[in-house]
Amino acid sequence: MSESLLIAEGSKSEKYETLLVQIEGVVGGESDEIANMANVSSMIHETFGFWWTGFYRVLDGELVLGPFQGPLACTRIKKGRGVCGTAWQQGVTQVVPDVEKFPGHIACSSASKSEIVVPLFKNGEVVAVLDIDSAELNTFDEEDRINLEKVAEILVRG
Ligand code: SME
Repeated sequence: MSESLLIAEGSKSEKYETLLVQIEGVVGGESDEIANMANVSSMIHETFGFWWTGFYRVLDGELVLGPFQGPLACTRIKKGRGVCGTAWQQGVTQVVPDVEKFPGHIACSSASKSEIVVPLFKNGEVVAVLDIDSAELNTFDEEDRINLEKVAEILVRG
């Protein structure tokens, strides 16, 4: 697959459709999870222009910052803490329309207003989370959840 990918255009569903094909192409030929997370965070971030897009990996009982695009972020998050730690603990995608209303939200940046966190599973265990922050309220909906869960599946499938 070409190194220079076209940025998907059109409606949100058209963007996701193109993005998923591109992600399949990039991830399908590479087995290194860090390389794949790096490219996937870039592709999502460039397509939608989010505030922060990246991964935290479960390492030694904590979430540890992985590949991301955007400003400096918290390095380690404990299970059950904030939106990321909740997604890990519950094994369920968290869609947060207003981060200030989420109990225990970890504010890495005051510019972040809404957020989605999607767990990545291997053998039934959460091994990482995909975290996306928006500088606007109410950015993420069911369509984002469904498509980003597909991204998570592609990534763990390799
Ligand atoms: N806000 C997240 C922490 C990670 S940063 O936003 C990149 C949370 O509450 O889990």
